[in-house]
Amino acid sequence: MPHILSITLFALLVPSLLVPLCSSYNHSNTCRSYCGNVSIDYPFGLKYGCGHPGYRDLLYCINGVLMLHVASGSYRVLDIDYTFQALTLHDPHLSTCNSIVLGSRGNGFVVEPWRAPFLTPVPDNAFLLIGCSVKSSLFQGIPSKHLACRNVSGLGCEDYYRCPAWGFIGPTNVGLVYGSGPPECCTVAYDDLGAGQGVNLTKLDCQGYSSAYSLAPLRIDGPHEWSYGIRVKYSLQGHDAFCKTCEATRGTCGYTGDHGSEITEVCFCETHNSTSNCDSTSVESMIAEAVVLRTSSTYAIILIGFLVSMVLWNKD
Ligand SMILES: *[C@@H]1O[C@H](CO)[C@@H](O)[C@H](O)[C@H]1NC(C)=O
Ligand SMILES: *[C@@H]1O[C@H](CO)[C@@H](O)[C@H](O)[C@H]1NC(C)=O
Ligand SMILES: *[C@@H]1O[C@H](CO)[C@@H](O)[C@H](O)[C@H]1NC(C)=O
Ligand SMILES: *[C@@H]1O[C@H](CO)[C@@H](O)[C@H](O)[C@H]1NC(C)=O
Ligand SMILES: *[C@@H]1O[C@H](CO)[C@@H](O)[C@H](O)[C@H]1NC(C)=O
Repeated sequence: MPHILSITLFALLVPSLLVPLCSSYNHSNTCRSYCGNVSIDYPFGLKYGCGHPGYRDLLYCINGVLMLHVASGSYRVLDIDYTFQALTLHDPHLSTCNSIVLGSRGNGFVVEPWRAPFLTPVPDNAFLLIGCSVKSSLFQGIPSKHLACRNVSGLGCEDYYRCPAWGFIGPTNVGLVYGSGPPECCTVAYDDLGAGQGVNLTKLDCQGYSSAYSLAPLRIDGPHEWSYGIRVKYSLQGHDAFCKTCEATRGTCGYTGDHGSEITEVCFCETHNSTSNCDSTSVESMIAEAVVLRTSSTYAIILIGFLVSMVLWNKD
């Protein structure tokens, strides 16, 4: 009889001991969020400390509109493609097939040098620079004067001139044969301008710009069907091992450190913050866990004490 009693008690007590332990693992990723219809997930974050440090101070949610801030200005983020690791950006002063915006009001695209390895326009994004000065560095290339201008992934100025917007401006040099001055439009890819230069309209001495990108090898009928916007790829440059390990142990990836001080990656765990992952048993994490498990431990001590006395009692 005493055996059955202790087994019954054990069977009743053990689950009640484990329940608080299990429910403490109801872990919600506090960094994952939405802005309008765009989901924000690693390596991005809206809160400081969330995501990878290469993307800190980058995205802001303003009245349900996701904005991206870099050196050249602010852009609306229309989409974050986590599969292809790309963002689609919109600049309100970007010229399209229906309107050409002059007066150097467009942003172009320039990122801070420290961020450049993490964020760069895709190679098949075409930047169509409009109304650039004869003195622009674009036209100073050697050996050809117009070295820089080309078609990028089938997107180029010859086709762009067919847009209705040019009807109002009237490209003076449509079908221009190089030699009689710079073309009204010159298409380049981001990397054509040189490492770290960016598309700086002021520096390039251009009046405006358009940007278009081609996804999948779709058959495009003309410039009215182009996708206008800036397609940017993000890359962790192989520095994603920390987060993979952190997430594998049910952690949320982030970073600590203030502007100026050293930034370190951190794994936010259920009960503590770790500089490696949630299964690591650093001294701080053991202290943090001890506090949380205190209540459960009290139960455990009572239970063990009870079982020990039961065993001793049975021996008699
Ligand atoms: C986890 O906890 C949150 C509150 O912190 C609660 O809203 C949510 O429903 C819980 N999820 C589960 C699966 O228990
Ligand atoms: C663009 O170039 C101009 C002139 O060289 C410079 O003053 C400006 O800081 C540059 N803008 C960016 C965002 O780098
Ligand atoms: C979000 O909505 C805008 C228009 O409201 C649309 O252009 C964009 O593609 C949408 N993005 C996603 C990820 O659905
Ligand atoms: C760009 O492609 C068009 C055809 O779409 C062609 O007529 C033009 O010569 C090409 N331009 C350059 C600079 O290669
Ligand atoms: C973990 O770090 C975050 C951000 O630095 C902080 O808000 C939180 O209180 C920390 N949690 C613990 C358990 O130390």
